[in-house]
Amino acid sequence: MKNLKVIDLKKIYGKGDSEVRAIDNINLEIQPHKFTAIIGQSGSGKSTLLHCMAGLDKPTSGKVFMDDLDLYTLNDDKLSKIRREEFGFIFQSFNLIPVINVYENIILPVSISDKKVDKEYISDLINKLGLKSQIKKFPNELSGGQQQRVAIARALANKPSIIFADEPTGNLDSKTTKEVMDILKFCVNEYKQTLVMITHNDEIAESAENVITISDGKIISN
Ligand SMILES: Nc1ncnc2c1ncn2[C@@H]1O[C@H](COP(=O)(O)OP(=O)(O)O)[C@@H](O)[C@H]1O
Ligand SMILES: [Mg+2]
Repeated sequence: MKNLKVIDLKKIYGKGDSEVRAIDNINLEIQPHKFTAIIGQSGSGKSTLLHCMAGLDKPTSGKVFMDDLDLYTLNDDKLSKIRREEFGFIFQSFNLIPVINVYENIILPVSISDKKVDKEYISDLINKLGLKSQIKKFPNELSGGQQQRVAIARALANKPSIIFADEPTGNLDSKTTKEVMDILKFCVNEYKQTLVMITHNDEIAESAENVITISDGKIISN
């Protein structure tokens, strides 16, 4: 079980008159094995918070703990190892690599880590995501929904403890959105993963086990 805890977190951009308090003293704990949604208006600090929690963006002050590991005291190598092995990322843009095929995209995080590819698990994942007939294709031969499913498979390939998703369904139609959400919820229930997801979709937020609302860099409800 990986516990994620944020203490007195601040992220300030710029100085003086142009100072932006993107994260203005946030404290929170993410419940393991649950689906937490982060909501709030555009510019409220959701992405900054997610990036800070995921070890992608160093806060101005405050701490992020994964269990007893104080993430931003780790050196770059150790932090990237945690990101690679414990975290999975899904963004609105799929960030697939165009010159390698779907299968190679999916196993990429495993191939660049020291872990061995768990072929059975990967093949299970590919089947669940309905990508079996697509694995030899290149990303540009797939629809948007299919590409997002490849991005999800890639995020899950390393069996991460925590999946961070920033509006992963933002570019998808409602049918594909539902498919993608069903898969992510399946991961929480079946693989006991923790899902932290930013969304603008009320229906998705309502289906989360915990909802954190951000406004002006502060938590206004949790
Ligand atoms: N790299 C940056 N440099 C300067 N300001 C930034 C940067 N990233 C985000 N901000 C500002 O921080 C605030 C929060 O941004 P963001 O976390 O992207 O909000 P959200 O994801 O809720 O739309 C916004 O005012 C945004 O303009
Ligand atoms: Mg954002």
